[in-house]
Amino acid sequence: MAEIGTDLNKAKRLLEEGNLVAIPTETVYGLAGNALDNAAVARIFAVKERPFFDPLIVHVPSLERAHDYAREIPDAGVKLARRFWPGPLTLVVLKSVRIPDLVTSGQQTVGLRSPDHALTRRLLDRLDFPLAAPSANPFGYVSPTEAAHVSDQLGDRIPYILDGGPCRIGIESTIVGFEDGRVVIYRTGGIGVEAIEQVVGSARVRDQEDANLQVPGQLKSHYAPRKKVILGSIPQLLQEYRHSRVAILSFATAYAGVPPEHQFILSPSANLEEAAQRLFFALRMLDKLEIEVILTEEVPAHGLGRAINDRLRRAAATVG
Ligand code: TXA
Ligand code: MG
Repeated sequence: MAEIGTDLNKAKRLLEEGNLVAIPTETVYGLAGNALDNAAVARIFAVKERPFFDPLIVHVPSLERAHDYAREIPDAGVKLARRFWPGPLTLVVLKSVRIPDLVTSGQQTVGLRSPDHALTRRLLDRLDFPLAAPSANPFGYVSPTEAAHVSDQLGDRIPYILDGGPCRIGIESTIVGFEDGRVVIYRTGGIGVEAIEQVVGSARVRDQEDANLQVPGQLKSHYAPRKKVILGSIPQLLQEYRHSRVAILSFATAYAGVPPEHQFILSPSANLEEAAQRLFFALRMLDKLEIEVILTEEVPAHGLGRAINDRLRRAAATVG
C-alpha cells in the first residue's frame, strides 16, 4: 500500500527514479510523474487505466518555466497566466519538442498549469523537470479531493501519496485554448468564465455536445460515480422515484421524507465555492450508501456554478 506523508525529499527521490507520486493541488489530487520521461508517463496511463488518446496536463512552477515547454504562448495566454497562476487554470498551447508525444496523445498542443498548493510548489521548485499529472482517480471516476480518496482507489499501485489535506477548490482547473486568435474554454473549472472574460474580453465555452476525441475531458460520462445519478427537479424526482431507495444531493435545501443520512447539502448557505469544494466528496460518500439512485439538481449557473453543473451533468450521463 502507498505510504501517505509529507516528506518532500522522499517524493522528489521517487519521482527522479521514474516512479509515480500522488500530489495535492488546490483543485484535486494529481497522479504525477516526470513529464520528460516516457516510461514514467506510460506508467501514469497504466495505473489510471486511461486510454492513450486522452492527453495529460503538465505542471510547472511558474510562467517562466512554462515558456521552456511551449513553442509559443499567445499574449492572451500570458495575460491569463499573469492573472491566475499559480491557480486553477490550464493553458493549451503549442508544445516544445521537449514534451514527449505520449504526454499530448500525439497532438501538437500541450496543457500547462502552475498549481497553487504550498507542498507541491516546493516539490516543483526542487525538481529539474515538470510533472505530468492527471487527476489521481481511475479513468472515468470522480476526482479525489483528499489523500484518503487516492489511497482507496490507487493505493495498491503507487508507492507514495503526498498529503496536503483536503483540496481548497475541489473542482478541476479551467482549461483554456486559443484558436484563430480567439479564447476557447474547453472545460469549465475552478476559475469562472466571467473571470476569464474580464482578462481577455470574450471567450467561447465549447459545448459538451461538441465533444471530440481531442478533448476527452469533455466525454459526457466522465466524473461518474458507480450509482445512477438523476439530474432534475428534486421534488419531482422524489415523486417519480418514490418506490426506489434514494439519496439526495442538493445545493442548499433539506427535504422531508428522506432520512438525513441519505441527504447531502452542498452548501446550506448557498455558497458556490463551498459547493464546489464539497462536490466530489459528496458524490463519493453517497456512492457508498445502500441506495439505488442519487437524485440531484443544478446549481445557479454563474461563477463556479457552471463547472459544478458540468460535473453533475457528466455524472448523470449514462455510459453509452
Ligand atoms: O485541476 C486539474 O486540472 C487537475 C490537477 C491534477 O491539475 N488535473 C486534471 O487532469 O484534471 P485530467 O487529466 O484528469 O484532465 C485533464 C484534461 C483531459 O481530459 C484532457 O482532455 C485535457 O485536460 N487536455 C490535456 N491536454 C490537452 C491538450 N493538449 N488539448 C486539449 N485538451 C487537453
Ligand atoms: Mg480527470
